[in-house]
Amino acid sequence: MSRIKGKQVIITGASSGIGMACAEKFASAGANLVLAARRLERLEDLKENLVKRFGISVVARRLDVRDRAAVEKFSGELEALSIPPDVLINNAGLASGMDRLQEGDFEDWDRMIDTNIKGILNVSRFLIPGMVARNSGHVVNVGSLAGHQVYPRGNVYNATKFAVRALTEGMSVDLLGTNIRVSCVSPGAVHTEFSEVRFHGDRERSEKVYKGYASLTAEDVAEAVFFIINAPEHVNILEMVVLPTAQRNVYCWHREEA
Ligand SMILES: NC(=O)c1ccc[n+]([C@@H]2O[C@H](COP(=O)([O-])OP(=O)(O)OC[C@H]3O[C@@H](n4cnc5c(N)ncnc54)[C@H](OP(=O)(O)O)[C@@H]3O)[C@@H](O)[C@H]2O)c1
Repeated sequence: MSRIKGKQVIITGASSGIGMACAEKFASAGANLVLAARRLERLEDLKENLVKRFGISVVARRLDVRDRAAVEKFSGELEALSIPPDVLINNAGLASGMDRLQEGDFEDWDRMIDTNIKGILNVSRFLIPGMVARNSGHVVNVGSLAGHQVYPRGNVYNATKFAVRALTEGMSVDLLGTNIRVSCVSPGAVHTEFSEVRFHGDRERSEKVYKGYASLTAEDVAEAVFFIINAPEHVNILEMVVLPTAQRNVYCWHREEA
């Protein structure tokens, strides 16, 4: 049963990977979409494709979630277009670099902290008031298994994803007494552009991350997000951890030798 049809779903980081797969999944269930990311051309292509195939309405906007003034403008624009924030998927995020903490690159640190923590805060701060005013809505934050366990050289990325879990719980308790649900989906390894971004465009290195086992696909995670949002309104899934069968935690992997 789909409770999604006709809802407005706002997805950050919709130009690739999990965000793009969520757009496809929710469009196929009849939701209307707001797609946001920095690469507008990709969003425009996705919009054209989804509108043609599913006959839904789609708004595509260039947005850097780190830019608080731009997020405020984005939120005002949605209000002016009478687009209610029924569902917000805070998905935009990245890992940047994989150095030991004592050798860490300050730009990588800022990029991760500003996107993964402050980006979620910026978007949530401007969109949740519209949910509160209507006493209705659902925020899904994309966390990570990296928010449960640290691994060598994960340091700052781990810290940002631990923060996503803390912010999910913080939002949830602060919205007690409203009908607004708050959830976090925490995937293990998903084959997207994630590792390519982490390794600053080094394709060879990033492809090795996904060798020798069946990683999750972005579509697998989109299914999980859909399940969370499609639950009846009195059911709030606070967190869902989704792992490849071949990955049991950040250390235990079963890889077939090539
Ligand atoms: N892949 C994994 O193994 C994995 C595992 C656990 C959690 N995650 C989390 O899943 C989320 C999605 O990642 P993915 O795996 O789908 O990677 P991806 O393919 O690299 O997609 C990341 C998305 O985030 C957007 N983004 C990055 N910085 C942004 C910014 N400043 N403002 C707006 N959008 C921004 C990117 O769009 P633009 O570049 O166009 O802005 C892109 O659409 C992230 O939060 C990531 O931490 C991934």
